[in-house]
Amino acid sequence: MPSRPDGIVIAIDGPSGAGKSTIARLLAERLGYIQIDTGAMYRAASFLLSRAGIELDDYSALEQFCRNLDIRLEVISGKQFVYANGLDVTDQIRTPEMSLLTSRTSSLKPVRDALLQAQQKMGSRGGVVLEGRDIGTVVFPDAEIKFYLSASVEERARRRCDELTRAGEIVSLTETIADVTERDRQDSERDIAPLRQADDAILVDSSRLTVEEVLTGMITLCRNKIVTLESLP
Ligand code: DC
Repeated sequence: MPSRPDGIVIAIDGPSGAGKSTIARLLAERLGYIQIDTGAMYRAASFLLSRAGIELDDYSALEQFCRNLDIRLEVISGKQFVYANGLDVTDQIRTPEMSLLTSRTSSLKPVRDALLQAQQKMGSRGGVVLEGRDIGTVVFPDAEIKFYLSASVEERARRRCDELTRAGEIVSLTETIADVTERDRQDSERDIAPLRQADDAILVDSSRLTVEEVLTGMITLCRNKIVTLESLP
């Protein structure tokens, strides 16, 4: 029998642009699991910090503020909504300014401590797909299955460029490669919970694979794991 009432914990970590959100959403849909986008939670926390005008080097104000953080995720008709202290911030957290701010706020201990607790609580019953940078290493080191989803810097930058072009923005691939490289550096070089592949995570390189190919492989591994755990006495 699985040790969690609602199923297993599936951890997906990896650098930005590797396709974690798409894969986590589809995986959750097909397994009937809940998707927890921890990046969206860090973005929502940044939104609130910025709106409250909290100086990021004012540690006591930051700690005080983080004690009352309430970030919730909800999926309505297949779309994920993000609520920060009761406010729907789904669209506001996806701007380039929020991405930039979040790469700073997500390195701060009070922010990480608050969200770590919230994420552990949200996933404790199982039946969840959590995606982020530190799920398999810090949030759920005991996750039943862990993936590290990656792709080359060039491929991730190319995908990002395509996305921005579709949204009507003019961007250069060279600049996007530099951005992606810088975000990788910030995520993997910070002191607390840096981006790192857990020792027991399965590495999936999506550079030359379609979404469906990545998903098919991952879903098979997850189903096998679920069946194996269910057949245990
Ligand atoms: O996945 P994303 O781009 O929405 O993440 C936004 C930021 O939050 C990014 O700078 C990495 C950070 N993050 C983190 O530090 N830990 C997580 N578990 C998830 C995201």
